[in-house]
Amino acid sequence: MHRRIGQLIDEQARWARPLGEWNQRWLAQVFDRTRPLKDVLNGVWLGHPVHPAVTDVPVGALTAGVVLDMAGHERAADLALATAVAGMAASAVTGAADAVDTYGGPQVQATVHASIMGASLAACLASLGLRATSIRALRPVAVALSLAGYAGVAAGAYVGGELTYGSGNMVDRHAWDSRRAKWRTLDVNEVPDRTLVRANAGKTALVLWRDGDEIVALDATCAHAGGPLDEGTIEDGCVQCPWHGSRFALSDGRVVRGPSVYDQPAWEIRRADDGHLEARQKPALIA
Ligand code: FES
Repeated sequence: MHRRIGQLIDEQARWARPLGEWNQRWLAQVFDRTRPLKDVLNGVWLGHPVHPAVTDVPVGALTAGVVLDMAGHERAADLALATAVAGMAASAVTGAADAVDTYGGPQVQATVHASIMGASLAACLASLGLRATSIRALRPVAVALSLAGYAGVAAGAYVGGELTYGSGNMVDRHAWDSRRAKWRTLDVNEVPDRTLVRANAGKTALVLWRDGDEIVALDATCAHAGGPLDEGTIEDGCVQCPWHGSRFALSDGRVVRGPSVYDQPAWEIRRADDGHLEARQKPALIA
């Protein structure tokens, strides 16, 4: 069944790709002007994407609202639906901050997800409006609309789950790395001053930066979506990813600017007795 659903989502590319690209253009302009706000919405402060946590609110509130409607607790059901609508609005904003940095297949999935959620929000808002009229004859229509919204949210959540679990969007690119604690010989020996240099420590690509006598190193693969940090730029003591602009402190890999919400693995560098450079990963940052 999931293959059929996946195919169905892919078939939406005809309209979802141009719509996603159009949305990306204007959203990028908005978020570029409000970069600190985007970091908050992405979850840089939390070390975790905010969007999936916020989406629990409308899912839970809508579930409660449907049950309360069925049980005849009208005022409580209306309150639950109002809570769901507020949660859906917050989910839309946090989701837009994540989706603006997606491309290709994930962008199509994100657009399908957002479109279903938008339609669900419209159904819930209409339901809320009818409930506010207190016209008894409209109550069944209002309940039917919130049920339709609930079904839409379930379908949209499936697509959102596919975007994360199937396509790995907003997943830490270093999630499967165990700490590489042993010293490894690098395949470069010289690091020009104040120049980003790519080097390999076994199978791991690193980006090195030397300032005077000190050489610092981070994993070269960006935690956000795999961008090459060795092709990035240096900004305020950080390396900035060339793909979506995440910044990581050169000293310890701490994420300073999103969309990455994850730190970048940091390495220590030494020169071995035989003159080769060696690297080993530092312990992960705790706080
Ligand atoms: S890959 Fe997205 S910021 Fe680096």
